[in-house]
Amino acid sequence: MGIQLFLNEQYLSYQIRQIVEWLPEKAPHAVIFGATGSGKTYATKLMLGRISLHISNSQIYVCDYKGDDDFSFLSGTSRFYRFHDCSKGLDNFFKRFQDRQSGLDTSRNMIILYFDEWASYCNNLEKKVAEEEKRKLATLLMLGRSFHVHIIIAQQRVDAVYFNSARDNFNLVIGLGNLSQESKDMLFHEFKDQMKPDRKQGTGYMLTNGTDFTQIQVPTINDKEKLHKYIKMAVTR
Ligand SMILES: Nc1ncnc2c1ncn2[C@@H]1O[C@H](COP(=O)(O)OP(=O)(O)OP(=O)(O)O)[C@@H](O)[C@H]1O
Ligand SMILES: [Mg+2]
Repeated sequence: MGIQLFLNEQYLSYQIRQIVEWLPEKAPHAVIFGATGSGKTYATKLMLGRISLHISNSQIYVCDYKGDDDFSFLSGTSRFYRFHDCSKGLDNFFKRFQDRQSGLDTSRNMIILYFDEWASYCNNLEKKVAEEEKRKLATLLMLGRSFHVHIIIAQQRVDAVYFNSARDNFNLVIGLGNLSQESKDMLFHEFKDQMKPDRKQGTGYMLTNGTDFTQIQVPTINDKEKLHKYIKMAVTR
């Protein structure tokens, strides 16, 4: 089932409201990147709320490494982890995946790990520990799809070093704000000539499965309370 996410900005310029959809079974894992303040967390919250609304048995794990106020509405919920606790979040999610892989758990409802600031998390771990965490994430990215196990990562830069060669498994790539030449080269290589330098907060480009390239606008959240309510539902159910 398609999940409606953002607005096609090119159509908007002709006053046409075309909504860009995400098909999780075709593009299971998403990465959202851009400079600080470009709107990554805002866009991802919208994504998580829409997942919760449209897939009523989906379960979300939120790891918020930065730990500021963005996810404070989830405080005290069982699948919300902040700062140092993020390692527990990744571990619990990974065990859930392994239970499905081993056959112990036959459920196949959609489970999602959302990790905000994965790169900063890795940078602040001892090298050996960081490698272990990256290995887990790479396994989830490579093997998760058929078990309905999904990853959504938001961070400022998307260097391959954070993903142990599994970076190509992000089949939904969202770049917000004006990206550096290096970032464009890393993830939008074939489309970089079409990328304009006029991106504002909450606007950017989305690439699905390396082929569908769309100029997007992240819609404004009208009812923040409602959005938080839906995210919370998926983090607790
Ligand atoms: N599409 C949007 N519409 C309206 N406001 C937005 C939009 N996107 C972002 N904002 C606002 O811009 C500010 C920065 O957004 P956000 O926190 O999502 O950025 P970020 O990329 O996650 O930054 P950081 O890397 O520092 O965490 C927030 O106050 C947010 O409310
Ligand atoms: Mg953020």
